Amino acid sequence: MNDVRFPEGFVWGAATAAYQIEGAARDDGRGESIWDTFSRTPGKVFAGHTGDVACDHYHRYADDVALMAELGLAAYRFSVAWPRIRPDGTGPVNPRGLDFYDRLTDALLDRGIDPIVTLYHWDLPQTLQDRGGWTSRETAEHFADYALAVHARLGDRIRTWTTLNEPWCSAYLGYGNGVHAPGEQDAGAAFRAVHHLLLGHGLAARALRAAGARTVGITLNPADVAPADPASAADAAAVRLVDGLQNRIFLDPLTGAGYPADVLEHVARMVEPTFVRDGDEKIIAAPLDLLGINYYSPTYVAGRPDGAGSSAYPGTEQAVEFLPATGPVSDMGWQIEPAGLTRLLVRIAADYPGLPLMITENGGAFPDDGRSPAADAAGRIHDADRIAYLDGHLRAAHEAISRGVDLRGYLVWSLLDNFEWAEGYRKRFGIVHVDYLNQRRTPKSSARWYQEVISRNGL
Ligand code: FCB
Repeated sequence: MNDVRFPEGFVWGAATAAYQIEGAARDDGRGESIWDTFSRTPGKVFAGHTGDVACDHYHRYADDVALMAELGLAAYRFSVAWPRIRPDGTGPVNPRGLDFYDRLTDALLDRGIDPIVTLYHWDLPQTLQDRGGWTSRETAEHFADYALAVHARLGDRIRTWTTLNEPWCSAYLGYGNGVHAPGEQDAGAAFRAVHHLLLGHGLAARALRAAGARTVGITLNPADVAPADPASAADAAAVRLVDGLQNRIFLDPLTGAGYPADVLEHVARMVEPTFVRDGDEKIIAAPLDLLGINYYSPTYVAGRPDGAGSSAYPGTEQAVEFLPATGPVSDMGWQIEPAGLTRLLVRIAADYPGLPLMITENGGAFPDDGRSPAADAAGRIHDADRIAYLDGHLRAAHEAISRGVDLRGYLVWSLLDNFEWAEGYRKRFGIVHVDYLNQRRTPKSSARWYQEVISRNGL
């Protein structure tokens, strides 16, 4: 295959999230989050796994940062755990929680690694959930206050701030189908959550900028939605509906166009959108310097009156059939299709022009743990399928750049094997293997391959 070179200054990095790697669930005054509650609820997470210990990154961050430096990462995206900073969501700031991110930030900067902060990667303080969580408007206001508290401590050193990670998941999986914390199953609650998450983003973005933050963004997981039959009008309508629920419901208001009329009409069939108040859309449209894109897999749909729909997309029953994966899949069962990433980036750049983009997550789960045949006698882990996945998606990203997309960087998901939400530790996304019995880190072949990609700025 042809050589592929990325633009000068293209940012190479890796991403993680607090609850998935930190552990130390009770250290230094950390409060409870909805994922603590959820993971302890029988039947919610595979084999009752929790994030109590995870990768113990809270205590091992210095070694992990040294490993990042060895791999040549230019950037590291991590999330701050709200319950460490404000243990009950609203009350006084807990300085010991901030101390951890202070140490982590300094360790990264010492090694020349640019920290990219995500303020909310799903670990809402449980006390706020007890008051309604994201279905409640006050959560949006508390989020902005918390964001400012983090900025007050780290703002002198952190350049890039992203507010939310994948609000689609927080809202639809957390409140719609209950697969994620807090586990509610109510379409109306899901849409309230969408709005309050966006409002929280807007309030936080405005506050951060006023406090001096220079680069403020948000990370979404927009879908590349494609029709089963490109010639079918019914399939095109299904694409439009799913695109509305996953893409336009976020991207349109974020970029100043307000909620799309067809989406509001769809929502109104399930819940009266009285929670959208005058002026909210203006707040949500706070200027964005960066849009983070997380992409793993494409979505194919058909329009069918008897379609099963999906509980993750309220109101798609009896309208949409989500097609099963065809061709190769990852260990998540997600279809592997790099071309979907090109299509998605090109589409977002075309429909929402002027927004610098960054791939804030992309990667694959493959069953490459040290006990599988993938490890050789010396214990090295040859994750050829992950390398193929990453290679394909980097080529797809490069293709988007050559078609004019303003793509600034690529952050692999994930640096470490970690707690994969409802799947617990059984799904491994890391380019670095973690042995959960002794917390030993072993870079997989993909890590060494990525190191090479970074040093060549290409493939
Ligand atoms: C994304 C999440 C991330 C990780 C990957 C596999 O939806 O943002 O935390 O779980 O999926």
